[in-house]
Amino acid sequence: MIDYDALVSSQRQHLFYPWTTQNKAKPFCIENAQGVWLTLSTGQKILDFNSSIFNANLGHGHAGIAAAMQKAALDPKVGHPALVHPEKAKLGENLARIAPGDLNKTFLTLGGAEANENAIKIARMATGRYKVITRYRSYHGATLGMIGYSGDYRRIPFDGTLTGVVRFPDPYPRGSGQKIDTVRLLEEIIEIEGPETIACVLLEGITGANGVFVPEADYWPRIRALCNKHGILLIADEVMSGFGRTGKWFGIDHFGIVPDIMTVGKGLAGGYAPLAGVIVSDQIAARFDNEMLWCGLTHYAHPFCCAVANAAISAYESEHLLENATQRGFELKAQLESMQAKNSRIAEVRSIGLMAAIDLENFVTYRAKGKELEKASRLHERLWESGVYCTVRFGMLVLAPPLCITASELADGLNRIGLVLSDLKD
Ligand SMILES: Cc1ncc(COP(=O)(O)O)c(C=O)c1O
Repeated sequence: MIDYDALVSSQRQHLFYPWTTQNKAKPFCIENAQGVWLTLSTGQKILDFNSSIFNANLGHGHAGIAAAMQKAALDPKVGHPALVHPEKAKLGENLARIAPGDLNKTFLTLGGAEANENAIKIARMATGRYKVITRYRSYHGATLGMIGYSGDYRRIPFDGTLTGVVRFPDPYPRGSGQKIDTVRLLEEIIEIEGPETIACVLLEGITGANGVFVPEADYWPRIRALCNKHGILLIADEVMSGFGRTGKWFGIDHFGIVPDIMTVGKGLAGGYAPLAGVIVSDQIAARFDNEMLWCGLTHYAHPFCCAVANAAISAYESEHLLENATQRGFELKAQLESMQAKNSRIAEVRSIGLMAAIDLENFVTYRAKGKELEKASRLHERLWESGVYCTVRFGMLVLAPPLCITASELADGLNRIGLVLSDLKD
């Protein structure tokens, strides 16, 4: 019998919880987890509509992953960046196979922020330029560098650290109420900044935690053309929108263009091992054949993590999870629309595949203050009590269940969310 109270108190004393004042941290005590279900130490069952932290795309308690971990553990190898290992070679081949176009060579990292940091370093080395263009409603990671390049409100305590950060608005009309041609704005910003100073444009394939903004079909192709025109590298951050989340391997695959660099993480190893990566085009890769690659990590391409990622990729394929995400995604969209039609508090719903956002009427667009944060926290608690775990950000819910979810589990979770939202008093 595990004494969870003792563990909680020990963790409170000796370990930090991220993104929270420590006294308000909400520890999870999970006794068992299977598929989309979490069973807490209290016995309560929770539908995980957050895929843990947007990484458990394969679901929980995955037998194929457990087998791959057991096999890897029987041949323990201390990682070395230059180590040659079958799982490393296989992962390089797998990523080249599933990544779009000529993105054939990967630099592996431990997390998404590190992947984006290295992508920017590569773009700077490849272009000799230093500015980076991102969007206001973006999140690219929590390292000092990546929080500074992100537009997300979490950058605010660290503003001023970086030079050369340029941001433009997201493809999202609410707020102003007007539809703005943000690619036209980007074009003008590039002209004003001076294209010869701009190394790259870094955008989430499809904006994740900041609101699931699905752009129009010509958005990415127009940005691709702008980058081509000015010799600016285009980086797609697929850390959240990759690995089947939107019904295709990568969010960018919906738009028929190939970025110069793509970063991946989260679903790459299904949340079972820390692994992420930067996948680059043949042209960029070739450049470093005779030039120094100023990037490195002690735990680069650890064979254990590579084995887990290979098992994850094989599970995405053998379990047809991309197809399931597409099919369930249609149901998710239809059910969200019907939820909105019945509830005047819901201002807007957006989704693609199994990634969705619900905006509530008094949507706080950017900087939440004390009371608004408390409201979000109460809503999160009500959802949790009703048996659903999802992200609540101010007045917005972000839903991203594991890709193995069944039609009835999806309907069950949406029904619970609908009931909580129809009962909202404040
Ligand atoms: C789009 C995107 N990029 C990068 C990151 C950072 O990844 P990590 O937390 O693994 O550093 C995240 C994490 O939420 C993300 O959603």
